[in-house]
Amino acid sequence: MMNYTTTTEKETKSLGEKLGKDLNLGEIVILQGDLGSGKTTFTKGMAKGLGITEIITSPTFSLMNIYEYGENSLIHIDTYRLENERDLLDIGIEDYLGKPNTITIIEWPEKIKNLLNKKMVTEITITHKNKNEREITASRKVYTLT
Ligand SMILES: Nc1ncnc2c1ncn2[C@@H]1O[C@H](COP(=O)(O)OP(=O)(O)O)[C@@H](O)[C@H]1O
Ligand SMILES: [Mg+2]
Repeated sequence: MMNYTTTTEKETKSLGEKLGKDLNLGEIVILQGDLGSGKTTFTKGMAKGLGITEIITSPTFSLMNIYEYGENSLIHIDTYRLENERDLLDIGIEDYLGKPNTITIIEWPEKIKNLLNKKMVTEITITHKNKNEREITASRKVYTLT
């Protein structure tokens, strides 16, 4: 378990970038935290760490954004507006989740518990402490239905 505190958006991006450099292909990263805690900001950093130069935008309405880099893809999912898991299955999430040339980053993973159950994930939790202060923890675990 790793524990960090950031006090600016830029710091959260840098931390994401650092962790992004250590990601292995096939990894599933789940981002937990309230609205406005910094999940998308952190994702932008991770994408940079992977070497992606494209501008990362929030998939709040698109559900899933795909960024190709080299032979690989970064899948960025935000389930905030998802009504049920079926909608993600319909747009092909299973073609990507945990596949060897793909990294998947998921905001609001609790909405797709069944799809993640028993999968190995890197869990990032962002806690909104203050206006600009965020506590960020990272750990690796097997996701289990609760
Ligand atoms: N330390 C910090 N880390 C990340 N974001 C911060 C921080 N301090 C303030 N912010 C602000 O909080 C907001 C985070 O937004 P965003 O990343 O879209 O959150 P989420 O995706 O969790 O809803 C941004 O407006 C950002 O400028
Ligand atoms: Mg977001």
